[in-house]
Amino acid sequence: MAEIAVIGCGHVGLVAVGCFAALGHQVTAVDVDTRRIELLRRGVPAIYEPGLEDLLRDGVESGRIEARDRYPAELDADFVFLAVGTPSSTGGASDLRAVRDAISALAPTLRPNAVIVNKSTVPIGTGNMIAETALSAGDTSVSVVSNPEFLQEGTAVDNFMNPDRVIVGSDDPDAAERVAQLYEDFGAPILRTDIRTAEMIKYASNAFLATKVSFINEMASICDVVNADVTEVARGMGLDDRIGSKFLRAGIGWGGSCFPKDVASLEHTASMSGAHPQLLRDVVEINKEQRRRIVHKIQTALGGVEGRRIVVLGAAFKPNTDDIRESPALEVSDLLRLAGAEVLVFDPHVSAEKIRVEFPRLTVTPDLIDAIEGTDALVLATEWPAFIDLPLAELALGMRTALFIDGRNAMDARAVREAGFTYRCIGRPGLEGGPLEPVTHIDRSNGVGSDHALASNR
Ligand code: UDX
Repeated sequence: MAEIAVIGCGHVGLVAVGCFAALGHQVTAVDVDTRRIELLRRGVPAIYEPGLEDLLRDGVESGRIEARDRYPAELDADFVFLAVGTPSSTGGASDLRAVRDAISALAPTLRPNAVIVNKSTVPIGTGNMIAETALSAGDTSVSVVSNPEFLQEGTAVDNFMNPDRVIVGSDDPDAAERVAQLYEDFGAPILRTDIRTAEMIKYASNAFLATKVSFINEMASICDVVNADVTEVARGMGLDDRIGSKFLRAGIGWGGSCFPKDVASLEHTASMSGAHPQLLRDVVEINKEQRRRIVHKIQTALGGVEGRRIVVLGAAFKPNTDDIRESPALEVSDLLRLAGAEVLVFDPHVSAEKIRVEFPRLTVTPDLIDAIEGTDALVLATEWPAFIDLPLAELALGMRTALFIDGRNAMDARAVREAGFTYRCIGRPGLEGGPLEPVTHIDRSNGVGSDHALASNR
């Protein structure tokens, strides 16, 4: 078993800490954020990720995880995994301050022959910069390996333990071999490349997935005008092995902590290097357009949104996470607000405080039933499973006009219509239809409001 340090206890770092400890390694977790470290010492993750808390608690209780908010004089580790944030900065450039700070702080603490393994998504060439910085700190035996992480929020533990592939990029074959051995038991293909190629694989993978989603969203726009069904189109395309069925769900677009930042960073790197990344620019533009299109759809259905009361279902950028970074749900909510609507956002797992930090002008409601009265439209923006089972007929009764906008094509259209709603969705015009009917009375005698899914648990 190896001694491993993980620098940075965000999503990628904490999952690595929990999973390496579960695999029997001795893990030192370091983060300058004292709150995160205090939580970790109690086995509590600072993020919401299914399955992670059990791993961290076991690791802390068994003594395999040690959490520190500063670097020790000597870091007891053969492998030092870097998992610090690389947020978007001016013009899409990645802000590498956390990487530089971490390397400067840890370089003097490394034991001889330690390997720095970079998991942070960094612009191509950063691994070489890391090696030079460590060398200039006087450590001549240090090696650098790029080992990008492909985990998805919500399924991160499983993604870590059962990867599709492991990328190990290094200019030092011995260091690459030592890192590859950490992953050998997973049985996944291990691809060895140089550092820059490994860094590029991460960007190219995320850019391709974002392209797939933007592509199907463009197909949805065409389906809307030629009267075809985009979900069937996606199914028909996906049955071709060369295309594959994943990431072909049309909706209000992609968001999150990775796609927007990574596509922007790759576009920035390409432009600054004299390349002309036209496709990436279009992929981003289609994604922006997708938010405007849904707002336009709501405006058309309601004959304008000014003064209309609209409840947006969902704030997280996708289900099974409380992450709201670059969330399409909140961007659509804010566009509606700017267009003059009274917007109420409801999410069963995202706290109102969190939303208010990013979007202080949005109103967040902790209770769907309180919010529904007199509403003109319900907009499904994040496909939380709880929303799929909403008591639609009862909700419709409380509304002024029962319009349901399915921004994720997640609902059973017929059930929504049978509940009394006018239904609108993305790229499936055959399922829409019927003019908007006003609802004239409210009946609360049937116990609406008792359902757990209708109140936020935070
Ligand atoms: C992504 C990558 O998948 C992962 O490999 C990388 O390590 C980090 O970025 P994540 O941000 O967790 O993971 O989200 P993901 O599940 O990939 O979804 C990204 C966005 O695309 C979400 O907003 C999601 O709603 C949207 N999406 C995804 C669609 O709109 N349609 C789809 O078919 C798939």
